[in-house]
Amino acid sequence: MTDIVQLLQHHRSIRKFTDQPVAQDRLEAYIQAGQAAATSSFIQATTVIQISAGATRDQLAEWAGGQAYVSTSPVFLVFCADMRRHQLACDLHQAEMLSGYTEQFMTATIDVALFAQNVVACAEADGLGICYIGGLRNNPDKVSSALELPELVYPVFGLCLGYPDQNPEVKPRLPLSVVLKQDRYDDSADADLIRDYDTGVRRYYETRTGGNKSMTWSEQISGMLKKEARPHMLPFLQQRGFLKR
Ligand SMILES: Cc1cc2nc3c(=O)[nH]c(=O)nc-3n(C[C@H](O)[C@H](O)[C@H](O)COP(=O)(O)O)c2cc1C
Repeated sequence: MTDIVQLLQHHRSIRKFTDQPVAQDRLEAYIQAGQAAATSSFIQATTVIQISAGATRDQLAEWAGGQAYVSTSPVFLVFCADMRRHQLACDLHQAEMLSGYTEQFMTATIDVALFAQNVVACAEADGLGICYIGGLRNNPDKVSSALELPELVYPVFGLCLGYPDQNPEVKPRLPLSVVLKQDRYDDSADADLIRDYDTGVRRYYETRTGGNKSMTWSEQISGMLKKEARPHMLPFLQQRGFLKR
């Protein structure tokens, strides 16, 4: 097994960090590695906003649902999908940009995820821990105003980075045959596999929390999916110029 495979297979989110600062030149190298990720049609649709500790950061932590590590992590980044620079490129050629397509929303968002995961892999290779923060989408309007995001830019997620001050177990993933299919989609064995997997996830949570949390994967997912999923996102995205057609 190569080192990179081992590294990625041992990822776990970190939510408690030491005070040790992250060197800015290393952070900038991670961002450049993010830029080096493949990008749909060369659109380069990611903007990263680094948020210093202070009032704005504390507000973001609150808007993300009171996630304290957004305030306390040595580095906090907001990853935005950005189609604004494409408007500027079209303006340079007096071309009318046709925006608002679902395809453009998808390509920009995919670009952000690929970019961010490169940053994460670099950071983890350097011994840092990370936690993505999708909680920013609880209040995407407030986040966008606070960061002065223009039209055609939206915050996809945040990212906490720093040296870990905890050492959680790796969270077990679904069995390989549930996610890797051969030649066609066959899920006939998946319900049984998920039942077995549930036992492992329950054990993981019980160990991690000293018995305070005992939950299976399917319980967690069914509990989540019977609730509405941030229904404000569609009108928010449309108001920012995405998903209109
Ligand atoms: C896009 C995205 C958003 C996430 N948002 C949050 C978040 O707001 N708060 C949090 O504590 N963890 C968040 N997570 C972390 C997931 O809960 C975590 O990755 C998942 O439970 C698997 O655990 P692991 O990363 O430790 O393997 C997010 C992960 C992703 C990929």
